[in-house]
Amino acid sequence: MIFEEIIKNLKSIKKMVVSDPKIKIAETKLVYHPYIKKGEIYFQEEVVLSNKAFHNNYSLEEFKKRLEEELVNYYRQIVVIEAGRTVSYFINPNGKIKRREEKNTLNEVKLSEHNKEKKYILEEGECIPALVDLGVFTKEYKIVSSKYDKFKQINRFIEIIDDEFKNYTNKEITILDFGCGKSYLTFIIYYYFAIKKGINAKIIGYDLKEDVVENCNRLAQKYKYDNLHFEVKDVAKGLDDQKVDMLVSLHACDTSTDYALYYAIKNKVPNIFSVPCCQHQVNSSIKRGGDFDLLLKDGLIKERFSALLTDSIRVQLLREQGYSVDVIEFVDFEHSPKNIMLRAKKVSSAKKDSSKLGALLSKYHVEQELFNLTKNL
Ligand SMILES: C[S@@+](CC[C@H](N)C(=O)[O-])C[C@H]1O[C@@H](n2cnc3c(N)ncnc32)[C@H](O)[C@@H]1O
Repeated sequence: MIFEEIIKNLKSIKKMVVSDPKIKIAETKLVYHPYIKKGEIYFQEEVVLSNKAFHNNYSLEEFKKRLEEELVNYYRQIVVIEAGRTVSYFINPNGKIKRREEKNTLNEVKLSEHNKEKKYILEEGECIPALVDLGVFTKEYKIVSSKYDKFKQINRFIEIIDDEFKNYTNKEITILDFGCGKSYLTFIIYYYFAIKKGINAKIIGYDLKEDVVENCNRLAQKYKYDNLHFEVKDVAKGLDDQKVDMLVSLHACDTSTDYALYYAIKNKVPNIFSVPCCQHQVNSSIKRGGDFDLLLKDGLIKERFSALLTDSIRVQLLREQGYSVDVIEFVDFEHSPKNIMLRAKKVSSAKKDSSKLGALLSKYHVEQELFNLTKNL
């Protein structure tokens, strides 16, 4: 009966909120916004799960089924906000429905022609089978909720790459990923360039872990991603020099980020996208010595300060090596606390002048790998 009443006034509905769960479930409420696509009414559902919003879209028929299933089984209340009135339905334990209607001041509702959900480069529901094998998507290409943060990170990473490469006209591209781990990002970069853009992308991911590398190579073969390879390598031991168009590193631990940046500098790699993490080296070497001492007294502050100092040194060194560098927050803190990205583009030749940096580091006894590596360049 609720659905029948709702559809009478479909076009004047602003939104509907299904709430008050009968049992302890993760989703505390469902919010529906109607919109029009190709002349038909659809509903965008927003599910809030641990403060993160997930979106699904339903046709009228699907919405009816969804509403009946959810309402009957899990919730006790639905509030329908229309132009001029708000109608609340309460479902009693015996199944009886209590209806309450109140006036509101909402003027005419105009349904938008499309759903205003943010368009990501990768969409939930997009057929990316490798993401199923990697556990980010279910078989139905829905985001696995425990992998939502990872999905957000790789999607944002790709968006940032897309900003730089959307008008890329070359037919080939060579990319290296330092500390690729399970390679969610590596697979997605390959998918973006080779499948979406039809570019001959040659990508190599490096990691220390043999089993992980083996699994990534197996997956790349399974999907006939012929130019996607993974190698067991300790990036600290150095890699052969080659012509590379882009270098990425996502959370390459501690000094691995320095080896990635050093490789890029040495090989004049034109584009670098690097999200550092666990900057232990500076934290364990820094000693008191001057104006920063206040920041070195308490462990937590010292750790955060050391991480920021590490990345500031890296940015300075990249600039001295002729890179234009942007420091950007790559995802919201809630999706990863390690959320600073160094986006660097080679724009000129090196104009090295690290004398000030050297004096600062020695004053505080700071050991910093990229500084040491680039000393003799
Ligand atoms: C935190 S994980 C990140 C993995 C992946 N990039 C991601 O974001 O999902 C860091 C990875 O760096 C790898 N790693 C650490 N030190 C390395 C080294 N010296 N050489 C190669 N890989 C390294 C680790 O094995 C690990 O898989």
